This record gives sequence, structure tokens and C-alpha cells, in this order.
Amino acid sequence: MPPRSPYFSQTLMENIREQLSRLVGDALSEVSGIAGCNPNVFEATRPEFGDYQANGVMAAAGRCGRKPRELAEAVISVLRDEDGLVASAEVAGPGFINIRLNDRALMARGDEVLRDPRSLIPADSQTLKIVVDQSSPNLAKEMHVGHLRGTVIGDCLSRVLERLGHKVIRQNHVGDWGTQFGMLIAYILDQGASVLQTELEDLETFYRAAKDKFDSDPDFADRARLSVVKLQGGDPEYLEAWRSFIDESLRHCQEIYDRLDVGLTLADLDAESRYNDDLEAIIHELDEKGLLRESDGARCVFLPEFKGKDGEPLPVIVQKSDGGYLYSTTDLAAVKMRSFDFKADRSLYVVDARQSLHFRQVFAVARAADMASANISLEHVAYGTIMGSDGRPYKTRSGDSVKLADLLDEAVARALALVSEKNPDMAEDERLLIAENIGIASVKYADLSKNRMNDYVFDWSTMLSFEGNTAPYLLYACTRIKSLLRKHGDDSGGNELTALTRSEERALLLKALQLPEVVDVVARECYPNLLCTYLYELSGVFMRFYEACPVLKAEPQIRKTRLALASLTEKTLEQGLDLLGIQTLERM
Ligand code: ARG
Repeated sequence: MPPRSPYFSQTLMENIREQLSRLVGDALSEVSGIAGCNPNVFEATRPEFGDYQANGVMAAAGRCGRKPRELAEAVISVLRDEDGLVASAEVAGPGFINIRLNDRALMARGDEVLRDPRSLIPADSQTLKIVVDQSSPNLAKEMHVGHLRGTVIGDCLSRVLERLGHKVIRQNHVGDWGTQFGMLIAYILDQGASVLQTELEDLETFYRAAKDKFDSDPDFADRARLSVVKLQGGDPEYLEAWRSFIDESLRHCQEIYDRLDVGLTLADLDAESRYNDDLEAIIHELDEKGLLRESDGARCVFLPEFKGKDGEPLPVIVQKSDGGYLYSTTDLAAVKMRSFDFKADRSLYVVDARQSLHFRQVFAVARAADMASANISLEHVAYGTIMGSDGRPYKTRSGDSVKLADLLDEAVARALALVSEKNPDMAEDERLLIAENIGIASVKYADLSKNRMNDYVFDWSTMLSFEGNTAPYLLYACTRIKSLLRKHGDDSGGNELTALTRSEERALLLKALQLPEVVDVVARECYPNLLCTYLYELSGVFMRFYEACPVLKAEPQIRKTRLALASLTEKTLEQGLDLLGIQTLERM
């Protein structure tokens, strides 16, 4: 899907901008005599410039040989503002037109949202089928910190796309096939079934024990290699051992998904093993299309666009010399399924940036072999690595990978300490519930708020801080607004936007109504950090409003408007956070 705009700008309510463009464009064409003038209306961020500015008059003036300022005057005099959008329009600078939106139009939109909060984010005009490949761990080991990003970014994008009315098909492309599993099965068969109950509880230890044995016991290593062959040949005993291992591993994953509240279930599984029976046909198809070449006994596809450092052609290997298939082969089969069975319009792969060559190759081979439908957009939504403070991938002190389960435990423990410090008198049950929410939200938000293309340094103290662009800051802002509304009575019906008396009120209303714009950009460009930045900015605009505009001491009409604005902010924050997979709290 081609992005509509390359930048995230502070574009306000695209429909209003378009309406203004039409209005000013018609007037400009009329006075200049040039058909179809582009008035180039954009949002002006400096309030003293007006809310919108049109700078297309100068170009038109050049073409019809008139003075720009004079032409701008003439445009203003013939504006036909039938919808009452424009409060004032004036000439500025060398021939700009500054347009101030009518408060009424803005307030009407705000009231509409207060009556029906979900109308804040309208559905996309076009409903697409979108596959989101997300999380996708390798089941041989327990989920570790490296799986966090693909899990939470994938969930956020799925939520955003669903919210816009698209049909989202989540796919958890877990690795559950291949040589490591042979080793694990051999270990299970060696140790007897009892190992399933005891050692499998800790998959990591189990994996290490099997690996140690593999490395130190050549006999065992032989048996391990043999068990892959038996497994792939469909031997029932091996299949059963494999199944029991996979089930256990998936149970571990599900615990993490539930705790992270990412909405993945077993129904979203798209395990590699699902494609076993399709792989032979993939090779055959590539061969038929004349794309297959043998190289050192392996079967490969060479495409002109992939060259190694030395300029030598770079192969995409699809079948090893021993007949085994590869990661790419499975992904080709998956592209086919997503294209022709699911009939998806977009297929997003939320996967580590280190796999970008893999995806470029798979996409290119799929296109060359017509394994992707003509209209499907294949998009690698790449993300960087989570780093430790030492500038290397985040590890435990002893150099092991950090288990995701342990990381979440620690986040919650740290959040509990914070909550207890803030609320020493709160009942323990409540503190625990709040800490669970804040701890998990902090980890998710810290990740989502970073530009996904970059690596970032994992840092407990910033992510749990109540200051800055963090989950605790936003959650706290929400609880403050909620408590304000509780205190002064909000029953959304009762509070209406009647008049804007301060620039801070207007700024807040404008900002809150901007959410759909941001959501739209996130859906197209797949950068959840844009939504985080927006929510953080919205909280800042609210704080400035709240400092400048007293609620309690204001006279009734103004108070109602201010409470309505607070309520609108709260509804906006809540919906925005929900799209990130974060739920707000009543108190914290
Ligand atoms: N299981 C893979 C890994 O752990 C990631 C799979 C990503 N999805 C895909 N369709 N290749 O690296």
C-alpha cells in the first residue's frame, strides 16, 4: 500500500482541509479565470497565522499576471462558505490567505464524538483483507525479549486495522519444524515420558540439557539426526513426542500472550509444519517456471536483483542437497496461501529487520513465480533490536537471553514498588492489579513509542517514569481527568461544547479531533510510535488547558464546555491507548 504522505504532519481533520481546499480553489479559479486551481491549503501550526493557510494564490497570480495580494483579496471576497466553516479569512504576507475555522463547526464535531465516542475514528472507505504475521517465535525455546517487538507491534497494527473496519487475519508463523526438534524428540524419547511433566516446565533448561547432550554425546547426536528423518517421515511415536513438546511450548506462549493482552490465540497459529505437504509442489512449480537451478547439489533460484558483495549472483536456496526444505520454501508456500486462499490485499510481516534480505528474496521469488497474487501488497514491517546499556543485544548478566516471562515479572514487581510508594494505604489486592497493568503497559509502551526501525536501549527507569513519553505518564493523565470528571459530574450528556473562550480550549479541541488522522497514517505506514507521540502531545495540550482554564470557578456554561473538553480528551486518550493494547485505570 503506497503511503499517502511520507511524513507525519500535524494535518488536522483531512475532511475539513479538503472542504476548505474546494472552497478556496473554486474562488481562486473564478477570480483568476484559470480552471482547476490548486489553492494548496494546509494546516498552519502557528496560531497567529490562522488555523489554515492557502499559499496557492501566488502561483495563480503569476499565471494570470495579477498582483498576488490583490488576487488574494478578490478570492476572499467571493468565498462561498455555505457550510459556515470559515470564521475569518485574511490576506497575509506576500499573498497567503489565512483561514480561521469557525468554532461552531469544531464544536459540533466535538459534541458528536461526546455523544458517540467511537465515531471519533470512522471506518476506512475501503474494507481490505489484511494478514498480519506477528510474534512468530521458534517453539524450540521459550519466548525471550527478542520476541517482544514482533508481538506488541503486530498486535497494535492488528488493532488499528481492525478498528478501521478491515478484516485482519493474524498469523503466528511459529517455527515448529526442523533439526532442533529432532534433537528435542530424541531427548524426550531417551529420558522417558516422565520428562514431559518435570523438565518441560522450564523449556529453556530442557533445551539446554538436550543441547548439552547433543554436543557431548555423539551417539545421541546420531539419534537426534535420525529422529528428524523419522519425524519428517511421519513415524507415529516421533510425531507424538513432537506434538507433546509443541503443545507444551505453545502453552508457554499463550501465557505470555494473555499476560500481554495481545489477543493472539491458538486459532491464529500458522505453524511452519502446516506447509509440509505443500513444499514439494513449490519446488515443482519453480522448476516448471524455469526458475530452478542446481548449485552444489542444492536447488536454488537466482534472480538478477540479488548479488553478493563480489557481484556474484546470490542464490535463494529452496531445497538442500539432502532433500530438506528451508525457511524460504515455507514462506513461499505461506505467500501462496495468503494470496490465493485468504485473498488478502495486504500481507504484513512484523519481523526483525535482520531478516530483511530473506523477505526481499521471498517476495521477489514469489512475484517471479506468480506465487503472489497481482494485487497483494507484501510488506516487511521490520523492527530493530532491543539493546542493553552496554550497546549489545539485551542479555542477562550471565549472557543468556532474557526470558519474556521473567522480564514481565520484573516489570510488574517494579511497578508494584512504585504504586506502593505512591499509595501506602491502598489495599494490597488493588495495588497488585494496578501494578500488573502499569508494569505490562510500561514495557509495551516503551517499545511501541520508539521508531520501530531503530534499535533501542532497554531501560527500566525511563519506561517506568511518571515523566516524559511513557505509559505511567499517560495512564496517570487519564486517571486525573477521570477523577476531575467524577468530582464535577460528567455525564457526557450533560456537558456540551457551547463556546470557546480561550485559545487553550480551542487548541485542545483541535488536537483531540486529530486522532483519526494519526490512526490513518499508522494503518498505512505501520509506525505505532506516531500514535504514541500524538497521545503524549495531546496530554501536554490538556495539561496546558487545565492550568490556564479553571473548571470549578468558571461560570456554568463555560464550566460545561471545559468539562466536555476534559471528557473528550479522556475518550480520545482511552481509544488511542486501547489501539496500543493498553487499558486505562480509574486510579493509580
Ligand atoms: N519463526 C521465525 C523466527 O523465529 C520468524 C517467522 C516470521 N514470519 C515469517 N513468515 N517468516 O525467526
